[in-house]
Amino acid sequence: MKDNKPTNEKLNQLEEHMTSNENEKLTTNQGLKINNNQDSLKAGDRGPTLLEDFILREKITHFDHERIPERVVHARGSGAHGVFKLTKSLAEYTRANFLSEVGKETPVFVRFSTVAGSRGSTDLARDVRGFAVKFYTDEGNYDLVANNMPVFFIQDAIKFPDLVHAVKPEPHNEIPQAQSAHDTFWDFISLMPESTHMIMWLMSDRAIPRSFSRMEGFGVHTFKLINDEGKAHFVKFHFKPKLGVHSVAWDEAQRISGVDPDFHKRDLWESIENGMFPEWDFGVQLIPEEDEFKYDFDLLDPTKIVPEEEVPVQLVGTLTLNKNPENFFAETEQIAFHPGHIVPGIDFTNDPLLQGRLFSYTDTQLIRLGGPNFHEIPINRSVNTVHNNQRDGYMRQQIAKGKVSYEPNSIGGGCPFQAMMKEGGFVSQESRVSGAKVRERSTSFVDHYSQAKLFYNSQSAPEKMHLQNALIFELSKVTIPEIRERMVSQLAFVDKDLASKVAAKVGVEVKELKFPNQSIPADADPSTLQSEEREP
Ligand code: HEM
Repeated sequence: MKDNKPTNEKLNQLEEHMTSNENEKLTTNQGLKINNNQDSLKAGDRGPTLLEDFILREKITHFDHERIPERVVHARGSGAHGVFKLTKSLAEYTRANFLSEVGKETPVFVRFSTVAGSRGSTDLARDVRGFAVKFYTDEGNYDLVANNMPVFFIQDAIKFPDLVHAVKPEPHNEIPQAQSAHDTFWDFISLMPESTHMIMWLMSDRAIPRSFSRMEGFGVHTFKLINDEGKAHFVKFHFKPKLGVHSVAWDEAQRISGVDPDFHKRDLWESIENGMFPEWDFGVQLIPEEDEFKYDFDLLDPTKIVPEEEVPVQLVGTLTLNKNPENFFAETEQIAFHPGHIVPGIDFTNDPLLQGRLFSYTDTQLIRLGGPNFHEIPINRSVNTVHNNQRDGYMRQQIAKGKVSYEPNSIGGGCPFQAMMKEGGFVSQESRVSGAKVRERSTSFVDHYSQAKLFYNSQSAPEKMHLQNALIFELSKVTIPEIRERMVSQLAFVDKDLASKVAAKVGVEVKELKFPNQSIPADADPSTLQSEEREP
């Protein structure tokens, strides 16, 4: 396949930044040819090494600074280039160019990841998988920062640091919980009924995919598509693998992890090298804005799916991965995804998890990628040229000409001007906002169990058995009996039989909880949740 390399606007742009060392002489970073790369400069045959040795100093200093922080979540990842081709126009629903013209091809880079593990952890962990897609559209970068599960653990971004602290290695000993006690994760989950639906997915076979090319992708949040007339439709985004959805069994996962912790990374790399390009259908569920309140759940609640029986997924495009990165660091590690990178015709909803995400990604990338100019790193560059009055900052690459870097101005001097809507300028959808300023959860977010039950009941008998065994395995590693008890008591709201079977295996009893179907109030004393009976 190497001779028949795919090409597109983004790959051409990247090519301009690439260098080859083939048949070249070794140089310093200042371009000075190096005559001896084996010995440092010494005073006399047996040293000491001289401070003067700028070649040694440069080489070691650069090496000392090679590592950047790993991502605070989704640290372990694998990525590839590809193309998105539109097969059905959505022009009736959105102004977005890349979703309007049938046959249009948009370059993409996709990064798959696990969430909890560090960069060096195994691919086969029981975990959610990230499925982040950067579309290099001619209207700017559009990022669909998706997961392989359609719902999430929490309903509000303010809980995200708590969730991640609970799932990451415990602070005192930094032992990853996959290999040891699971106390903190299950403590948090057992106190967080809103996570029940996601826990069903996480304990299911979906959490141990056979390969990246055999898993689905979901945008999770409800977004909006906006057409030329300003009319909005709610939208849920889906990727459906052409190879179907496949998982491995838990004991297979453990064995593979021992033998080949890079199993998914290797599979993705080799299938692309061998021309077996992974492919997904891209689909949308569309809901007219006037139907916002038609459902028995809130469209803004990220712990809920829109059942496909009620709103079928329309397939509108194909995503194909056809080229491995040339350099893992420069492409897979330096890429910066952000759910806030959108294009005209796509907009956010008021989902409180999404709203928090809109802050978090740039904030973390400012430190991970070293300052405000990481959009200039080759993999992050838009194929649409960038013009604005931002300037300076660490590691600035762009050299803007002219004397003016503010607007309005009467001098001109190279200053870019804002674009009207008809010129492609982004305009947020006008929508009404009302109500008192409150720090509370909407009561429309309160049903934490109906969809968890639906998911559990949709599983086949062997799948249910896997799910049950996963819960037994996980909870048997929880050292604090009260947490096990609280967790099985939560499970009883999904399925009594499941709860009692798990309870029997992990040595606790199912108790009735005080807060069966609501978020735990902020002032609740967790210790009372373990023992108090539910009010009749
Ligand atoms: C990565 C925050 C929820 C999907 C990240 C990163 C942060 C973050 C800080 C690291 C980014 C980087 O270093 O470049 C959050 C917060 C969330 C949240 C605050 C909730 C409030 C979600 C949800 C999804 C998701 C619901 C899926 C729909 C991802 C993916 C990545 C990621 C796929 C990896 C991106 C990559 O491959 O570089 N998230 N996240 N996150 N997040 Fe989230």
